[in-house]
Amino acid sequence: MKRVLLFSLPILIIISVIFAVFGFFQARSTQERLIDEVKSKAKAVAESMELSAGQILAARDLRKAQRLIEKFETRERLQGCVLYDREGKLFVITKRFSEWKDKQKPYLPEVISQKNPRGELEKFGDYSVYSYVHPVLDDDGQVLGLIEVIYDTSHVSTRLIGLWKRISVTLIILVISILFISLLTLRQLFVLPIQRLTEWFTHFQKGSTDAKPPISDTGELGKLAEEVEQVALSLRVARKSMIEEAQRRVEKEDLWTEKRLRDLVMAKLGENSLFVVSNREPYLHVFDAERNETKMMFPASGVVTAIDPILRACGGTWLAHGSGNADRRFVNSRNKLGVPPGDERYILKRVWLTKEEEEGYYFGFANEGLWPLCHVTHTRPIFRETDWQMYRKVNEKFAESLVEELPAEKPFVFIQDYHFTLLPQMIKQKRPDATIALFWHIPWPNPEVFAICPYQEEILEGMLGCDLIGFHVQNHCNNFLDTANRLMESRVDTEKFSIVRSGRETLVRAFPISVDLGVFGTPTESVLQQKEKIREELNLAGKIVAVSVERIDYTKGIVERLLAIDRFLEKYPEYQKRFVFIQIAAPSRTHIKRYHDLMGEIDELVERKNWKYSEGDWSPVIYLKRQFTHEEISPYYQLADLCIVSSLHDGMNLVAKEFIAAKHDLSGILLLSRFTGASRELTDAVPINPYAIEEFADSIKGAIEMPAEEKRRRMTRMREIVGRNNVYFWAASIITELTAVHNTQYLRKES
Ligand code: G6P
Repeated sequence: MKRVLLFSLPILIIISVIFAVFGFFQARSTQERLIDEVKSKAKAVAESMELSAGQILAARDLRKAQRLIEKFETRERLQGCVLYDREGKLFVITKRFSEWKDKQKPYLPEVISQKNPRGELEKFGDYSVYSYVHPVLDDDGQVLGLIEVIYDTSHVSTRLIGLWKRISVTLIILVISILFISLLTLRQLFVLPIQRLTEWFTHFQKGSTDAKPPISDTGELGKLAEEVEQVALSLRVARKSMIEEAQRRVEKEDLWTEKRLRDLVMAKLGENSLFVVSNREPYLHVFDAERNETKMMFPASGVVTAIDPILRACGGTWLAHGSGNADRRFVNSRNKLGVPPGDERYILKRVWLTKEEEEGYYFGFANEGLWPLCHVTHTRPIFRETDWQMYRKVNEKFAESLVEELPAEKPFVFIQDYHFTLLPQMIKQKRPDATIALFWHIPWPNPEVFAICPYQEEILEGMLGCDLIGFHVQNHCNNFLDTANRLMESRVDTEKFSIVRSGRETLVRAFPISVDLGVFGTPTESVLQQKEKIREELNLAGKIVAVSVERIDYTKGIVERLLAIDRFLEKYPEYQKRFVFIQIAAPSRTHIKRYHDLMGEIDELVERKNWKYSEGDWSPVIYLKRQFTHEEISPYYQLADLCIVSSLHDGMNLVAKEFIAAKHDLSGILLLSRFTGASRELTDAVPINPYAIEEFADSIKGAIEMPAEEKRRRMTRMREIVGRNNVYFWAASIITELTAVHNTQYLRKES
């Protein structure tokens, strides 16, 4: 409509001006004509009365005078008639307009003295009238009296209003007709052809058409269509040859790298790019009111740490909740942007949630319900019906937003985590041809624990919309198979490790997630400088440094760790003034009371233990409470002698692997909770039970005192494992499994 208005506005302005000018002149001439008519009528009436009036005035015969003026009273539009004597005093007036006698008439003496008639338009109360005064003269030319004839002129303004009304109605009809014609013309000439071209291009892009573009004219639009066709064709051809080239390369190499993964994705998924869905977005735009500037932030999230390098490597689209307060300013009309900003490798599509949706779905159901339920760390899960409804609604919202983006045929969708248990089935219903995988980044509890959840069936049903469900470790896979077996009607195939329900099969597999060794690889000059700066600022020279990095979460065992450090210093006082523990912790989900309380508990504990041991400029705990980027964390890993990961329960724990990745000089030792997924792979770490404070304290001592050669041996082996089973290997395994599922599905359908 805006375009139609822009297109027709100049025509409309010109037409309106013409109408206004025309109306003005038309109105003026009508007014003049009507007034002239009145004038001549008034004059004629006065002149026809003149003779009789002269005799009557000379004889001062009041009765005759009355009869004379009443004879004229019935004339059309004649309002009234008055006779005055030679001094201008009222002699007789028509009854119908007798109120005229009260009017001031300064013009009478002038007519008497000049003996000339006078006619003027007058306002009298609500009346618009024309008054014509005619002197009555005797044979000697002396004034005998005056005749005043008063005509009603209100019909002039009524006629003028009618005229303007007609002009306006004509103008409105004209404007509507012009707008309508413009709309039709624009639609026919531009909108429809462009719509057809866009539709064609979208289908061509998604691979569902080979037809020629729908515009065949030779004009500018035809040229545009030709150009679009060329671009589309080149894209297709380029993609095809890249796929073949990629297939050849994948077969040749063995260690998984970013490039090899890219080749694999190209070879396996071909023209179908990958669609990832997670709650947390990889890049947030946040407005810092204090500095009055917008910052781009990378959130503290294991999911983001793992998936970002994969999409950087192979491109695709990532759908996530747009949670940064300045996020809306950086997206296009379809809520998308290229990321990482400045080095765009893939598309991030932001999904907007209202406060109520975020509250119920994210804080409520996902993080107060499913998170504690699955971690089993003695924080009671809370299930509210309202949260569940919001959770379902948000899953639906994501389903709609994703389906809009999917290509015409056989898309691949990779969903992350416990925020989207209902999404797989929702997508499958809309797009049965989609191949869907869900990776569960947190632990899966045993069936007895999961049975607490009031929505267990819907959740399992939703998840079984997947073709593949991945967990970090086999134990979680087993728990999931057991849960499905016990809590819903399904057949578990223990040979194939799959669940069959309503004729559909979902494979369940363990894929231990990892990191990109390169992210924390050989430290740059600036990381080394930073390391020295930190050592100096925090007074760490000659000290044994332990480090922990995480979100402030009750599953991470931060309190237990502080208690173990306290016990260690208490039990082995020789380490006082020699040992420093740096806790890097990012505030997280602070809106939830349990998290809020935990922050207070940690603050208080740090303060109490530092007060207990500090001496001179030494304090045992340095607590850095804020968000850190990977670049900022790297120097801390470099200078740490120990890294302590003491989660009470953790799906994998990528900090353990990041520390190993960062230790390119083979120094340092990792203390790793037995309750992390990582402990299954990293058997060279020092195992700890965070609940057993005494044992934990002894493990810290044991790790510090371990011979350097032993530490190097352990670190070497762990680096080999992380190097081999890196994040690209993780993604490659999932994609390989997913495409195998996909191919069998289609083979089955075709046969
Ligand atoms: C865990 C979850 C992720 C989540 C991350 C950070 O690693 O598995 O899905 O993104 O915690 O939590 P947040 O709630 O801040 O996204």
